[in-house]
Amino acid sequence: MTSIALPPLTKDLVRVLIDADTIQRRVNELAQQINKNYAGTNGTLILVGVLKGSFIFLADLCRKLDIPHVVDFISLSSYGNSNQTTGNVRMIMDTRENMEGRHVMIIEDILDSGYTLDYLCRNFLTRKVASLRTAVLLDKPERRKVDVKLDYVGFQIPDVWVVGYGLDYAEKYRTLPYIAEMVPVTV
Ligand code: IMP
Ligand code: MG
Repeated sequence: MTSIALPPLTKDLVRVLIDADTIQRRVNELAQQINKNYAGTNGTLILVGVLKGSFIFLADLCRKLDIPHVVDFISLSSYGNSNQTTGNVRMIMDTRENMEGRHVMIIEDILDSGYTLDYLCRNFLTRKVASLRTAVLLDKPERRKVDVKLDYVGFQIPDVWVVGYGLDYAEKYRTLPYIAEMVPVTV
């Protein structure tokens, strides 16, 4: 087997927080829990990925599921400057699936203040879903402003900016195979 060289850390990537193997093992565990919890449930589970950050987590997770499921996406945006989330969330693109009477799981990359997921859960609950659960890869509990119920959590992390495995800084670093801590280099 040929080994693939990992992209080297750059100046602003200060350390690898979670390596690729650890991520894969955890995503596998989450998928097994979901398979178990939804076994025998009537109907097809709708996995709703919150664009863009969740796309890699969702892609890996859904390929480990053996329960009936479909994949859908939603795009949200919060007003305010880029790295400071505000409470004002708005929808840029809605799902294509009709949610009424269906089992829905929201897939997010990271829970920070909680405003985004809180908005989404409230919004989905008005659509008369049969059930609503949430799965996030990363959780930064220290940053929480609103309480959100999480059903599946990959890892709890400290209050640092992270990139990789779908997460970005100004659209950079999304496709790194690991999660790294990033501190912007200012020169
Ligand atoms: P919340 O509404 O504050 O929970 O914000 C969640 C959103 O902020 C996530 O979906 C991410 O898009 C973004 N975010 C928060 N922390 C980070 C981070 O450390 N790296 C990359 N994106 C982040
Ligand atoms: Mg996001």
